[in-house]
Amino acid sequence: MIKITTDGTTTLYSDCFKTYYHSIFGARQESERVFMELGLDFAFEHFAEIRILEMGFGTGLNALLASERAVLNSKKVNYTGLEAFPISKEEVSELNFNVLPFHEATWGLTTAINPFFDFRKINTGLEDFQLNEKFNLVFYDAFAPSAQPELWTAEIFQHLASFLDSGAVLTTYCSKVYVQKNLKAAGFRIEKHAGPYRKREVLRAILS
Ligand SMILES: C[S@@+](CC[C@H](N)C(=O)[O-])C[C@H]1O[C@@H](n2cnc3c(N)ncnc32)[C@H](O)[C@@H]1O
Repeated sequence: MIKITTDGTTTLYSDCFKTYYHSIFGARQESERVFMELGLDFAFEHFAEIRILEMGFGTGLNALLASERAVLNSKKVNYTGLEAFPISKEEVSELNFNVLPFHEATWGLTTAINPFFDFRKINTGLEDFQLNEKFNLVFYDAFAPSAQPELWTAEIFQHLASFLDSGAVLTTYCSKVYVQKNLKAAGFRIEKHAGPYRKREVLRAILS
């Protein structure tokens, strides 16, 4: 089910998980603050080559904004989005941002969205994900712990860390104390940052 959020961008409601895909106080604002400013802009400053792993590709909004930012900054970005439950073509057509190229891309293959942005989506659950590649930036955009507690445990973060370089950065909108504790248990150092509208705190975590 489609919903227009406070900043005018659309999000979806998941009947299955009984939650929204983004903050209803601004889908784009949330993505800009949590994943672009705290994640991608930080990576532009610190890494020569950027390899992003997104947990929860969903509508494709994060991928779209990252592809635009890669062009604006003239920086090469490789992007891999994991998605266990892809949205339907009808849902894609209801969104008021253009993510069609990402949804039309073939699962498992790399597509050049623009000269600075190579994109790949993989149809898998994070818990089953295996790949002989390492990433240095994670957009951790799972549904909230109240909907999917199994995606916020120390074990899942340890599994995730096995795909990351030392010094890799993870950003997420969820700052619950036990999420911080579980990230620390998996080897991440936690930074708290001001969130987008109506959200006091969000996290950036750096893998030791
Ligand atoms: C908060 S939404 C992601 C929003 C998305 N980043 C966007 O920009 O639209 C969470 C996503 O995680 C997906 N998901 C749920 N369980 C998963 C799992 N075990 N592994 C990978 N993806 C999962 C959901 O289907 C949903 O698309």
